[in-house]
Amino acid sequence: MDWNTTYSKGRKYPQFSDVFLDELLALLSKRYHSSNIGRVVDIGCGRGELAIQLAKRGIKVTGFDSSEKALELARANAVEANVDNFVQFIKADIEKFEDNKLEKEIARAQLVICKLVIAFLNDRVSFLKKINLNMRDKALLLLQTPVFLDKKGLTNHLSSISVPKNKIENELKEIFSNFSLLKEELMAEGVFLNTYVVKKN
Ligand SMILES: C[S@@+](CC[C@H](N)C(=O)[O-])C[C@H]1O[C@@H](n2cnc3c(N)ncnc32)[C@H](O)[C@@H]1O
Repeated sequence: MDWNTTYSKGRKYPQFSDVFLDELLALLSKRYHSSNIGRVVDIGCGRGELAIQLAKRGIKVTGFDSSEKALELARANAVEANVDNFVQFIKADIEKFEDNKLEKEIARAQLVICKLVIAFLNDRVSFLKKINLNMRDKALLLLQTPVFLDKKGLTNHLSSISVPKNKIENELKEIFSNFSLLKEELMAEGVFLNTYVVKKN
């Protein structure tokens, strides 16, 4: 996937509404933390929309992405939203865990987010294991991804952006603890957009 070209063409991805994000943060704080979430890592942050929404709520966010174009847009969006003091965007291949930057940021965060990214990775299980390993105690992972039950009948596009529902759920249950499916929305025939939360194991 050529992400720089995709972003240069103006591609945007579905974002959380402010209402959903507020409900989500309240739920996560109440269910898992005595204090509020103050630091977040957004893995595969794209144009930084979610990082900026969180920064507007006083949360410090570090976003990682391999697309220079996405990061350029994210930085400009943060300046425009006047939250550049609350966010930083770092170029990295999130599967490589090079020079410890991703590990260090994950270890500082109460919440790790991975939104619409997991289907594009080469080795999803190793990636999820590394996240769990580096997360601090009681930290949470919020993962949003399109999922399918049966690949048969899906267009090439849909199967390339989604993952098998049973497989990802089993992986999350095996690697992390406190598995929870927070939201399930029909995205297209045979594909749901699912939002999961799990806790460091
Ligand atoms: C569909 S976009 C989602 C972006 C953002 N999370 C959102 O919801 O708007 C997927 C993102 O994952 C990033 N990505 C995919 N594979 C990556 C990798 N190995 N390392 C870093 N970023 C990656 C792409 O550059 C792209 O920005």
